[in-house]
Amino acid sequence: MPDIFDVMSTMRSMRRLKPDPVPDELINKILQAGQWAPNGGNTQRWRFLVVKDPEVKKKVQVYYKRLYDETVGPRYANSPPPPGTTPEAYKRQGAANQYLTDHYHEAPVWIVACLEGGENPGRTVGSSIYPAVQNMLLATRALGLGTTLTTRHTGFGKECDAIFGLPPGVQSYAILPIGWPVGKFGPVGRGPLKDFVYQDQWGKPYAGL
Ligand SMILES: Cc1cc2nc3c(=O)[nH]c(=O)nc-3n(C[C@H](O)[C@H](O)[C@H](O)COP(=O)(O)O)c2cc1C
Repeated sequence: MPDIFDVMSTMRSMRRLKPDPVPDELINKILQAGQWAPNGGNTQRWRFLVVKDPEVKKKVQVYYKRLYDETVGPRYANSPPPPGTTPEAYKRQGAANQYLTDHYHEAPVWIVACLEGGENPGRTVGSSIYPAVQNMLLATRALGLGTTLTTRHTGFGKECDAIFGLPPGVQSYAILPIGWPVGKFGPVGRGPLKDFVYQDQWGKPYAGL
């Protein structure tokens, strides 16, 4: 099992996945990692939906693709590369994003991270589900499987939640399409840490770096 720092530093979004099945034993490890996450008051108002049914996945993919065509695709085409990436790398990311959009439903397993508790308009929105999502991303990478944290479907959140059969008061926050990766894992591109850390006051360089 790789060191956790190696896992984190190579946990790139893996958007090209093989359709080959993934054993339940591995999915169960990922789910367990998710349930080990911290959550507010340990109330565990999360539920993890494992989706394998091609029809369910396809119905959601239609909304996912619509959002790509309407907003995400044009944004990739017209915005500059973010810090830590080159124009070429950003272009590759855009192409991978389109690939995942077209093949979203072909990932053999999805884990849909859901949270009960109603819409939260405050600063803690999602804070009791995203630690679980991150744990599952890390576990997936540690097992040599590929995935990407995706939230785009929430643009049609009500429609997708209905497809998943979520009851009132429960919302889906993320979908992790999981499968064996086509490409290789590699270092994440984020830019120099010193550009993102301050000391004592906003804007003052952190002396530790
Ligand atoms: C809150 C959040 C939502 C995201 N939603 C999507 C998504 O819907 N589709 C997608 O392809 N990637 C999505 N991503 C992945 C990011 O695009 C990706 O992490 C980022 O570009 C950095 O690339 P890397 O993970 O390969 O290092 C999301 C990431 C975060 C943190």
